[in-house]
Amino acid sequence: MVETTIKRLGLHGDGIADGPLYVPRALPGERVSGQPDGQKLTDVKIIEPSARRVAAPCPHFKSCGGCQLQHADDAFVADWKVDVVRTAIEAHGLETVFRPILTSPPQSRRRAGFAARRTKKGAMVGFHGQASGTIVAIPDCQLLTPDVLAAVPVAEALAIAGASRKGALSVVVTQSRTGLDVAVSDGKPLDGPLRQQLAMICDRTGLARLSWNDEIVAMRAPPAQRFGAADVVPPPGAFLQATQHGQQALVAAVQEAVKGAGRIIDLFAGCGTFSLPLAETAEVRAIESEAGTLAALDAGWRHATGLKKITTEARDLFRRPLMPDEMAKTDAVVLDPPRAGAEAQIAELVKSSVPRIAYVSCNPVTFARDAAALVDAGYNLDWIQVVDQFRWSAHVELAASFASAHMR
Ligand SMILES: C[S@@+](CC[C@H](N)C(=O)[O-])C[C@H]1O[C@@H](n2cnc3c(N)ncnc32)[C@H](O)[C@@H]1O
Repeated sequence: MVETTIKRLGLHGDGIADGPLYVPRALPGERVSGQPDGQKLTDVKIIEPSARRVAAPCPHFKSCGGCQLQHADDAFVADWKVDVVRTAIEAHGLETVFRPILTSPPQSRRRAGFAARRTKKGAMVGFHGQASGTIVAIPDCQLLTPDVLAAVPVAEALAIAGASRKGALSVVVTQSRTGLDVAVSDGKPLDGPLRQQLAMICDRTGLARLSWNDEIVAMRAPPAQRFGAADVVPPPGAFLQATQHGQQALVAAVQEAVKGAGRIIDLFAGCGTFSLPLAETAEVRAIESEAGTLAALDAGWRHATGLKKITTEARDLFRRPLMPDEMAKTDAVVLDPPRAGAEAQIAELVKSSVPRIAYVSCNPVTFARDAAALVDAGYNLDWIQVVDQFRWSAHVELAASFASAHMR
């Protein structure tokens, strides 16, 4: 048994004491005791709690692995998330204006990845627990929209129909404008009887669409998402911002950053979260690696009215970034890369003469690296908007505005 004091929170939301010793669910300033296991403290007891400690809003927090930060008050979590970004950019010698953080409300996550296992009595559905290998039932989850939470019985039916004896199904449920879009992986191989059963479950539970091991097996209504003036039907599992609130906040930040631009390139465009609202006032070139995702964007654009032209290109921007001559006559670039960031693309962007850049990121560390390269090349980092659409988790999302020195 050791006793120690928490010095700070790490990037995963763990308390960190001298050593370093990682202490899950502990807050800076707290005196704790527990059993060291390598660099982790287990059987943690809080001896002197922080004034920022609160009772978790969700009754499942103790055992569920879905949330990491329900034990701190909202203002603490908000300040910590902004500080994570500030510290990341300061490590590169950068500073800027931080706009007040925008935090998505409880019960607003529109996508959940449930684990669903067959049991002797039926099925067990929930989130992976803190203890490895466990599934925790979450009937009173405070994170998910009520519609997504209501999919638990659907996931139970799917597990009974098609989970193998040994493994759990992964059941990803996404709320859409026409109902739930459910994508199952790790299920038994499809055969005739299973297909029939799945079609019946889809009908009986009123799902919009059901996919099984990457194949669409039933669709009652195309599961549309609204991006600006367009309805888009993403391929199963395609990227979607985590909350409606987060999407709106990021789109507003991007629109402001590229305001007045007539020709915009949207890199890592996905299904058009940014391209479609931007096409209300600008011509957009949307580029991304997934051809199916771009086909969905294109179809959404074709069915919408009043939008300016959008062209799409499937391209791996890590291996084949857009070259400076391909960005000539472009007023603004929007980029929203995966966690790895956009190092190769930024290396070309800095050689271009694009006046404005909106950078959306889910990883402050790679963002800060890329931001430093832009600033070195003469861009000004005007402001950062942190958006907490991953409430109660350690994830941080942000939008940032850059303007080239020629614009100033
Ligand atoms: C964070 S998502 C953003 C999507 C979109 N901007 C949105 O907000 O919905 C990142 C996108 O980058 C795409 N992507 C991942 N690796 C890529 C690569 N090497 N080249 C181009 N696109 C890539 C993914 O398919 C995904 O759609």
